[in-house]
Amino acid sequence: MTDGQKTIRRSQAWFGAKGRSGMVYRSWMRNQGFGNEVFDGRPVIGIATSASELAPCNAHLTRVAEAVKRGVWQAGGFPLAFPTMATGETLMRPTAMLYRNLMAMEVEELIRANPLDGVVLLSGCDKTTPAMLMGAASVDLPAVMVTGGPMLNGKYRGQDVGSGTHVWKFEEDLKTGRMTEEECFFAEGCMARSNGHCMTMGTASTMACMAEALGMQLPGSAAWPAVDSRRMEIAQAAGQRIVGMVEEELRPSQILTREAFENAIRVNAAIGGSTNALIHLTAIAGRVGVELNLQDFDELVRAVPTLVNLMPSGKYLMEDFCYAGGLPAVLAELLGGELLHGEQITVTGRTIAENTETTENTENAGRIDSDVITRLDAPFQPAGTGIAVLRGNLCPDGAVIKQSAASPHLLTHRGPARVFDSPEAYHEVADDPELDIDENTVIVIRNAGPKGYPGMPEVANVPLPAKLLKAGVTDMVRICDGRMSGTGYGTVVLHVAPEAAVGGPLALVHDGDTVVLDVPNRSLRLDVDDAELTRRRQSWKAPAERHTSGYSWLYTQNVEQADQGADFGFLRGSRGHEVPRDSH
Ligand code: FES
Ligand code: MG
Repeated sequence: MTDGQKTIRRSQAWFGAKGRSGMVYRSWMRNQGFGNEVFDGRPVIGIATSASELAPCNAHLTRVAEAVKRGVWQAGGFPLAFPTMATGETLMRPTAMLYRNLMAMEVEELIRANPLDGVVLLSGCDKTTPAMLMGAASVDLPAVMVTGGPMLNGKYRGQDVGSGTHVWKFEEDLKTGRMTEEECFFAEGCMARSNGHCMTMGTASTMACMAEALGMQLPGSAAWPAVDSRRMEIAQAAGQRIVGMVEEELRPSQILTREAFENAIRVNAAIGGSTNALIHLTAIAGRVGVELNLQDFDELVRAVPTLVNLMPSGKYLMEDFCYAGGLPAVLAELLGGELLHGEQITVTGRTIAENTETTENTENAGRIDSDVITRLDAPFQPAGTGIAVLRGNLCPDGAVIKQSAASPHLLTHRGPARVFDSPEAYHEVADDPELDIDENTVIVIRNAGPKGYPGMPEVANVPLPAKLLKAGVTDMVRICDGRMSGTGYGTVVLHVAPEAAVGGPLALVHDGDTVVLDVPNRSLRLDVDDAELTRRRQSWKAPAERHTSGYSWLYTQNVEQADQGADFGFLRGSRGHEVPRDSH
């Protein structure tokens, strides 16, 4: 709104109101001890804080919010922190992913319903970053993200231990007798030794990098450890900057363009990022009317090598990544190779290329550590070895595989299917020494998709059968309509779409059918003829609806398939930030 030359902020519809309304809006705020001056028309900045003791990766965000507040006050704004739900990955059942869309709805509605002119989004654990971005994009008020930062490197018996990644390794060690229960119990404490989110290049670190690559958080924000004082410094800078963004009216819709998403997709390839980024980026793009499809994720990355040598694909952790230059170093290298759109505007008000020229965010800025962040001309892994999108009669709407986390010898494989209708059905028999599975078997886990589970959990990388682990088998082909943790590894085909629960071909696979995986040719096929598949389809019955009320019902009725981002159809697009009708 403008009144002559003077901008009237959105928040003034509340705090500048005359009469009874204005009194109600201001008076109760004053019970917190704010003086009259905070209502004078200065930018009111919400600080959306997903801190929760039930989401340990986000537990420290209340302290980060205090740093943001300092910055907002400094720049002449009025900061107001508010809690949002937190979708913690480790505790929530059946899966935090079931609640990503709920959190996004909450973030969107809280921003719109309140007297805010701009918002700082504080997230950490996997789903919390995309949920915040989705919600904020659908309101389209100026917004800047501050992710909470990774944990310090885990250390156990002189070795670096990666959160998530070592859970799988320790589990294997336990099963094969290389580790005792007591050693495992001790090691789990060594893995998570500070505040912060997973410090592997799992989904949380990936989405933090995605937020930075999209231009939604300040340069360097993704990598600072949660407990590094410079995490607080950058949070304070974000608080200062959001006030400027409100003055400039710089909104997510100007930042989140098609080109920004293309940048993020390429950066995900360069950092060896999580397969979950495909789903989250697609969902965020849907909120701003940018159409991403799975093919984009395959085609855009074919020329991009993996530069970053981090677990689960490599050996280092986020602390090393930070000291090696963090994401700005990766962006600089990709820009040098003309692999990014450098003219993309970011929350700084400058372009991504300008940011990269001026960012001195770590002691090592501009000087790439050759082992942690490699150069384009001698990359950690060559172009074309990252995430690949598969097609074929088993996945007509696509499936995904992270090649860098797979075994090269299994990327082309032909083997008999052994089908499990749920992950639980597999776990029941996985340790049976008589299990009718050998190393050529393709383990199919179905009904783990968005609608089927519900919520598309990270269950795809089931551990290998105990008898094969003991025999020294280290990897097998697994196929699933669910997801895999960003910290996971193995030759695992994920996100099969459509999922089994809606009648995707995965529902039609029988034990013993031959599955043909050909990643170089981007193909996943079932060697069963069409007539037989049609016969099977005719006798297929959709699983009974298990959720007839409550949020799970809303979810199963509205969730879209993995290739569409697993958002609710009715949440696509932006609903803007018009001031709602008066409340009293
Ligand atoms: Fe929260 Fe890994 S469990 S980031
Ligand atoms: Mg995860």
